[in-house]
Amino acid sequence: MNVLLLGSGGREHALAWKLAQSPRLTRLFAAPGNPGIAAHATLVDLSPDDHRAVIDFCRREHIGFVVIGPEAPLVAGLADNLRAVGVGVFGPGKVAAQLEGSKGFTKDLCARENIPTARYERVHALDGARAAVGEFGLPVVIKADGLAAGKGVTIATTAEEADAALVALFDANGAEAVIEEFLEGEEASLFVLTDGTHLLPFGSAQDHKRVGDGDTGPNTGGMGAYSPARVLTPELEQRAIDEIVRPTVQAMARIGHPFQGVLYAGLMLTADGPSLIEYNARFGDPECEVLMPRLDGDLLEILMATDAGTLDAVSAAWREETALTVVMAASGYPGTPDRGGAIGGIGTAEAGGAIVFHAGTADRDGALVANGGRVLAVTATGATVAEAQAAAYRAVDSIDFPTGFARRDIGWREVAREG
Ligand code: AMP
Ligand code: GLY
Repeated sequence: MNVLLLGSGGREHALAWKLAQSPRLTRLFAAPGNPGIAAHATLVDLSPDDHRAVIDFCRREHIGFVVIGPEAPLVAGLADNLRAVGVGVFGPGKVAAQLEGSKGFTKDLCARENIPTARYERVHALDGARAAVGEFGLPVVIKADGLAAGKGVTIATTAEEADAALVALFDANGAEAVIEEFLEGEEASLFVLTDGTHLLPFGSAQDHKRVGDGDTGPNTGGMGAYSPARVLTPELEQRAIDEIVRPTVQAMARIGHPFQGVLYAGLMLTADGPSLIEYNARFGDPECEVLMPRLDGDLLEILMATDAGTLDAVSAAWREETALTVVMAASGYPGTPDRGGAIGGIGTAEAGGAIVFHAGTADRDGALVANGGRVLAVTATGATVAEAQAAAYRAVDSIDFPTGFARRDIGWREVAREG
């Protein structure tokens, strides 16, 4: 089977690394890919936005299966267009991808299905939004409706902050927002594969969204993660599946738009149990970089089963050990990152047992340089989170990336609990 992987980040490098181990794989292509992915795939100059070009490429190279990494092509309907011409694909169609693409769509679905989530109101104009903020009290959570690459959420602790966020939001797109109640608890991410009918739990992780140590500073796409997230106990995971994920999958099937792919549930573990913060319609980045090293088995077979409707016939086995990844970012991130900084020492880090996934790198005349905000995801495994953390930071310290930085405390909650 020839496979085309779409995307260019650390998530896609982790997917390429695992797909390359599949006995079913003949050739792996990646578009646009990155220098790390190039070790496992032939890179193709193809934009995922150009659906016609993707389809033409699939025909020309006899691609049997397309793995879509990021959310934008899903929300744009690329999976539908590929399925329509008979190409297998990992990822939901346009309507099902609204679970990520529209916060309002997801909140309304939760309300209809009695799925635990923060109380909310959809608002379309500044006046209504101000009234809603008044009703919920402080702190209050304000979310832009559409895809926002992790930047669309404000948690306001004062009335002034809330108002400034609302004004900025309605100035920027004038469109739509969700105002919701602030939930207290610890966050965890649960991944569940589905073919529209069957569910296959696919691991858990905990992300670190703030740029600075101790969870300080602005939000990012994620500065590090570990898996499994033991705070999501088997009992809580089962509740999340029974009360949140399964009713969602059933509701999507009922409205004629079954979700096929991975449902990434961002959960708040509240005193009353798991509550849904948000869905994503694709793997997390950097969560994928800690899931793939723990997966035993054939990723390609499993992803193909989400498309074929045969997920009940496959299983996923997970290594007991913890995987932990530390993102090395370019200075300036999450603002404008410095580009072009030299990167060395990856070979040394990997010789010590780590896996260094490329997130934002480029090959400049044979030299590896930074080419994005998040540049590397340095991943290691260990019997405990503390061991995985120590191994990951040994690898980080052997990488020579003078214009980069990393958080030094990835996994801190669980390391403290392991105490
Ligand atoms: P989202 O983009 O919806 O994942 O939101 C980004 C982050 O904002 C989440 O990871 C949470 O840390 C926080 N957040 C979102 N909604 C809530 C909520 N209702 N209560 C508390 N924190 C929230
Ligand atoms: N790490 C968060 C995300 O992928 O959305």
